[in-house]
Amino acid sequence: MKKIKRIGLLTGGGDCPGLNAVIRAVVKTANLQYNSETFGFQDGFKGLVENYGRLLSVSSVSGILPRGGTILGTTNRDNPFEFLVIENGKEEYRDCSDKIFENVEKLDIDALVVIGGDGSLHIANRLHKMGLPVVGVPKTIDNDLSATDVTFGFNTALNTASEALDKLHTTAESHHRVMVLEVMGRYAGWIALEAGVSGGADVILIPEIPYTMEYVYDKIKERRARGKMFSIVVVAEGAKPKGGEVVVQRLVKDRSDPVRLGGIGQKVSDEIEEHLEIETRVTVLGHLQRGGSPSPYDRILATRYGVGAVEMIMKGEFGRMVSLQTPDIVSVTLDEAVEKPRFVPVDGDLVRAGRSVGISFGDE
Ligand code: F6P
Repeated sequence: MKKIKRIGLLTGGGDCPGLNAVIRAVVKTANLQYNSETFGFQDGFKGLVENYGRLLSVSSVSGILPRGGTILGTTNRDNPFEFLVIENGKEEYRDCSDKIFENVEKLDIDALVVIGGDGSLHIANRLHKMGLPVVGVPKTIDNDLSATDVTFGFNTALNTASEALDKLHTTAESHHRVMVLEVMGRYAGWIALEAGVSGGADVILIPEIPYTMEYVYDKIKERRARGKMFSIVVVAEGAKPKGGEVVVQRLVKDRSDPVRLGGIGQKVSDEIEEHLEIETRVTVLGHLQRGGSPSPYDRILATRYGVGAVEMIMKGEFGRMVSLQTPDIVSVTLDEAVEKPRFVPVDGDLVRAGRSVGISFGDE
C-alpha cells in the first residue's frame, strides 16, 4: 500500500461545535502516530477547487479543542459540481471537479478527510467514485444522518436548547405566560425532542408527528385547571400541522438545499394567544445552537472521529465514513452514509417516555 505522507482536510456545510476538535485529532494523530502531514483547505470545497489553504502543524492546532466554529472556515454554498464561475462579468455554474484532482496532485495529497453533513458527504461520495481517496466524518447539530448513532455537534446544540428552556421556565412561571421556543433541526425533530424532554417541556412539536392545535390548547388548559398557570412549548423549525406545510423563512441562492425553515414558533405562539387569550411569547434560538464551545461529549466524540478517520486512511479504507455504533467507532460506506436521513421514530422509546410523563406531541 502507498505510504500516506500528506492528508488533505476540509470542513464543509454549516459549522457546528466540535469541528476544531476533529481537525486537532486528525493533525495530531497523523503527525504523532504516522509521521504524516495535514494540509487544511480553507472554506470547505471552495478552497479545494480554488487551491487555497495551509499546512497544519501540531503547534498550529494547539488550544483549539474547546473552540467553537472551524479554524479552516466553511461554506454551504460551493458545490464543486455546480461551482459559480465569474468570467468577463458573467456568472455561470460549472462542473469544476477536475480542478480538485489537479490541486490534490499539485499538493501531493494522498487522501482527503471531508468533515460534513449530508450535502458535503454526497459531494465526497461523488469525488470518491471518480477516484479520489476520501473518508468522511459526520457533522451536524441536526443529528439527521442514519449511518451513525450520533453526529458531533448535536450534544452541544442540545445543551444550549435545554439551558434556554431552564431560563424560559423561570420567566414563564413568574409571568404566568406560555413560552414557545423554536429550535433548529431541519426536517428532523431530534433537538426539539431531546431538549424538550430534558428541559421539562409541556408540549413538543416535531416534523415527524404532525400536530393539531386543539391538542396543544387542551394541554395548556389542563395545566391551568391544575393550577399550573404557565406552559412551555418547544417547536422544531420543521414542525407542521396535520395536513399543512412547513413554514419557510426564506430561499437562499446557490445552495443544494435553498429552503431555510423558520417562523413556525411565531405561528404557534400567535395561535395560542389568540385562541386561549393567554399572554404568549416566542424565542427563536437560531444560530446560537451552532456556536460556542463543544460539550465534553462532543469533544470526545469529535476526537474519536478524527482519530478513526486517520486510522481508516492508513488502512486504505476509502469511500467510507467514521460512524459511532455504540460503544465502537466503526466505518460505513459513503453510500450508506447518505442513503437516507435519520428521523425520530414516532413510536420510539423517547417519544413514549415523553408521553408517559405527560408531554403532549400535539397529536392526541
Ligand atoms: O443543518 C444545520 C442547520 O443549522 C439547520 O438546523 C438549519 O435549518 C440550517 O442549518 C440553517 O442554515 P443557515 O446557516 O444557512 O442559516
